[in-house]
Amino acid sequence: MKKLSIAIDGPAGAGKSSVSKILAARLGYAYLDTGAMYRAVTYEAIERKLVDPEAVAAMAEALDMEVLPGQDGMHVITDGRDVTPFIRTPEVSGRVSEVSAIGRVRKAMVALQRKQAEKGGIVLDGRDIGTTVLPKADIKIFLTASVHIRAVRRFKELTEGHPEMTMEDVEKEISRRDYLDSHREISPLKKAEDAVLLDNGELTLEGTAEAIIRICRSKFPGFDA
Ligand code: DC
Repeated sequence: MKKLSIAIDGPAGAGKSSVSKILAARLGYAYLDTGAMYRAVTYEAIERKLVDPEAVAAMAEALDMEVLPGQDGMHVITDGRDVTPFIRTPEVSGRVSEVSAIGRVRKAMVALQRKQAEKGGIVLDGRDIGTTVLPKADIKIFLTASVHIRAVRRFKELTEGHPEMTMEDVEKEISRRDYLDSHREISPLKKAEDAVLLDNGELTLEGTAEAIIRICRSKFPGFDA
């Protein structure tokens, strides 16, 4: 059985990265967190005080970005430095939709993502994997849950580092990002026509991974996991 490429798209807080990690570990596949790549570009833009989209684009194109697997998920190395610990702050989350809407930034990241996925045997999570990055992915999943359920999940993650945030703040931030990500001009967040819609509001992360494995089995009868 050939190794599959599995695209998992969906809005913030749907559990894409946790589910992708479980799947990749179970299948012995690589895992590519494409959101972390846009976050790393955003972090660098903030560090370098870049606001003008042309300046951010030029920086992203020149950035030496490497993605490496780690015990705790994927690590992003920019210009030789591991920036993973700094890319999930509210400041980066607040600007990442703006940065990821810049066409030249997307072009640079999509090229890197396709290169990583060339050999198959990979789970990619993002917003435009099934529509743009890998339109021929073997399996396409659009993973979602209600805004409220996603906000509850994010709230649990976030409040550990930021006790000042309220549930209302998190719900507003998720809705704002949903809107921006799905209304941008280039590669908006959208279910690919041939993607399977999976609402995991009532499922655990393990249960979601199991549901995706069942989808793989039904499409590829020889699939073994
Ligand atoms: O998955 P995440 O929340 O870490 O992603 C951060 C942002 O990056 C998200 O708000 C939109 C953007 N993104 C994107 O535009 N395309 C992707 N393939 C992945 C993420």
